[in-house]
Amino acid sequence: LKHYLLWCGAAFLAGSIPFGLVLVKLAGKGDVRTQGSGNIGATNVMRAGGKGLGIATLVLDALKGFLPVFIAKQAGYSAEFLAFVALASVVGHVFTPWLRFKGGKGVATALGAVLGYHAPMVLPALGTFLVLVAIFRYVSLGSVAAAVVLLLTAMGFLGTWARLPVHEGMAQWPILAWTLLVGLVIRKHAENLNRLLHGQEHRLWGAK
Ligand code: G3P
Repeated sequence: LKHYLLWCGAAFLAGSIPFGLVLVKLAGKGDVRTQGSGNIGATNVMRAGGKGLGIATLVLDALKGFLPVFIAKQAGYSAEFLAFVALASVVGHVFTPWLRFKGGKGVATALGAVLGYHAPMVLPALGTFLVLVAIFRYVSLGSVAAAVVLLLTAMGFLGTWARLPVHEGMAQWPILAWTLLVGLVIRKHAENLNRLLHGQEHRLWGAK
């Protein structure tokens, strides 16, 4: 158990680094939390600091999700446990102690964590995200839909290719971890969903 707590603690700490906030500050563009949606994620960093900074935030936030799970996987840990390392990195991002536990929405970090866990598992969610964002230009809509698709994938609706094998009788543990992760991501999009319902959500490019 001690090992497990250490891995999850390390993933939480990695996830807690607010790259978006730091990059926008370093670029001399102020506090990203006072601009656009107020979020510290890649989408809002793009609004506040442009495409380059947005992409850098996406990559760095994804890396902090990817590395802990990937390293734990190389160390031989099983899917039952890896899914909780993934969850810990997203929890670290969303409840970062450095920002009084008010962090981001967890999308990029979750993307990285899934890639480190089992890369094929990301495909259905990523496809959903890209199609929805291309059509509607709402990143939040793509994120929430992708989160739902990720959970369905983790639950095995697409068959075994999209899931990491688990030990006999342990299948409920990764599903629990992915359910919590997806629930957290969706919960963090409450304001976005409200804006979407009222036709007031910011679009990624072009006019409203
Ligand atoms: O990654 C968060 C994205 O889904 C929405 O970001 O800034 O539009 O709330 P934002």
